Amino acid sequence: MDEKKTKLTFDNKIILAPMVRAGTLPLRLLALDYGADIVYTEELIDFKLLRSTRQINDVLGTIDYIDQTDGTIVFRTCLREKSHVVLQLGTSDPERALKVAQILENDVSGIDINMGCPKKFSLEGGMGAALLNNEQKAKNILKRLIDGVRIPVTCKIRVFDDLQKTLNLCDTLESSGISAITVHGRTVHERPQHANRNEMIRIIAQRLSIPVIANGGSKEIEKYSDIEKFKKETACSSVMLARAAQWNCSIFRKEGLLPIDIVIKAYLKYAIDYDNSPSNTKYCVQNIIRELQETPLGKEFLKAQTLEQICEIWDMDDYCRLKFDQYQKKGFHGRFQVAPLRIGVIMNENHSTKNSECNVDDLIVLRCAFLRRRFSFDNDLPKTKLLKWLRENKKTHIVPVYHTWFEDKLFRSIVTVDNKRYSSTFWEKNKKRAEQGAALVCLCSLGVIDEELLKKNGSLRK
Ligand SMILES: Cc1cc2nc3c(=O)[nH]c(=O)nc-3n(C[C@H](O)[C@H](O)[C@H](O)COP(=O)(O)O)c2cc1C
Repeated sequence: MDEKKTKLTFDNKIILAPMVRAGTLPLRLLALDYGADIVYTEELIDFKLLRSTRQINDVLGTIDYIDQTDGTIVFRTCLREKSHVVLQLGTSDPERALKVAQILENDVSGIDINMGCPKKFSLEGGMGAALLNNEQKAKNILKRLIDGVRIPVTCKIRVFDDLQKTLNLCDTLESSGISAITVHGRTVHERPQHANRNEMIRIIAQRLSIPVIANGGSKEIEKYSDIEKFKKETACSSVMLARAAQWNCSIFRKEGLLPIDIVIKAYLKYAIDYDNSPSNTKYCVQNIIRELQETPLGKEFLKAQTLEQICEIWDMDDYCRLKFDQYQKKGFHGRFQVAPLRIGVIMNENHSTKNSECNVDDLIVLRCAFLRRRFSFDNDLPKTKLLKWLRENKKTHIVPVYHTWFEDKLFRSIVTVDNKRYSSTFWEKNKKRAEQGAALVCLCSLGVIDEELLKKNGSLRK
């Protein structure tokens, strides 16, 4: 195959910007669905990638780069994005950058060097915006990459206050042979609320012969036609969007923006499909709902700790469980539930010292989630139902006693009824729900509620 034909080009493109935390696989895929031509990864630091190993995940259909020191997934990608994804690298060293690029070049379609990050961590390490003041090193990194890999190399810069200084920098970087340059029209000291220097980007675009990608316009981009306006103002044929895409990824749709609930559901589907970490998913959804965090839905969302709990708010929990079960059957234990499952430790810490008869064997456990919407009436809730059952069976002398534990922002309860103890191994987001979960296990064990029914309605998990 003619290699040139498959190479990514940067003219006339609408691009998802690199964004730390936000730019993980679900957002990148969603951006492509909505019409982005190219998607950049979040900045990945060369050292982290060098200590990672590449693994194929057959269950998810992904390629994972896993940090060998802590097992975290540094970079997850899949075939769907391969011809559109550019990996952004944080580096200060040509040889290290080349090593990383050579490891990754078959999994991505381009390498970008971050020359705009103003964070202390980057500056102290000679990366990001530190490279703006070290033109020769910046050029060396780019040249080393261009000579050593077959995929296009780009870089992303911020501007200087001084136009001529900015133009000199751009000339030097262009002379390295890069395929394109992204220009964020703010200086290192400027924050998002400062005006973007569109005029400076225009002058750069008119001067250079490589594609200049305009960046920094999100504040003025509320709909697709604003992208066209930004292009005109900057004389660039390509535009890169960060915050506008983070707030509502359907900004890439020519047909217009979609309501955020639709975007969140589409985002969550990818988060489930690709086992995105619950904390990263929560962060990304939080950036979509923004000021709605003050609404009852927003407050409910903020309490959610597991992927399933987040999904429940948008009626996606059935899908989440379905996929979770499928993955488990294939031997893959994903990150859906981040809660600890340390019942033995809990028992020792909280019971055994006080009551020598208590040990883990006493405990009847099921993995039962308390799904509030499965119960139409308050007098139907497990705790009330349990009291009713005791009354009806002339056991009014027995009072269920609940003990609840709190760990990693999650709750778990044990209910003692008639000297037997019951608990759900599913950690809940508040005390009330944890108690209802324990009561549910008790009712199931007593035969008051049919286990099959709980399986069918999704409360009982494997
Ligand atoms: C959450 C977030 C994370 C970011 N992370 C990166 C990054 O990893 N690399 C980078 O070059 N720029 C990063 N940026 C800067 C953006 O790519 C972009 O340059 C800036 O937000 C201006 O574009 P906008 O007006 O479209 O938001 C980040 C911005 C945000 C909001």
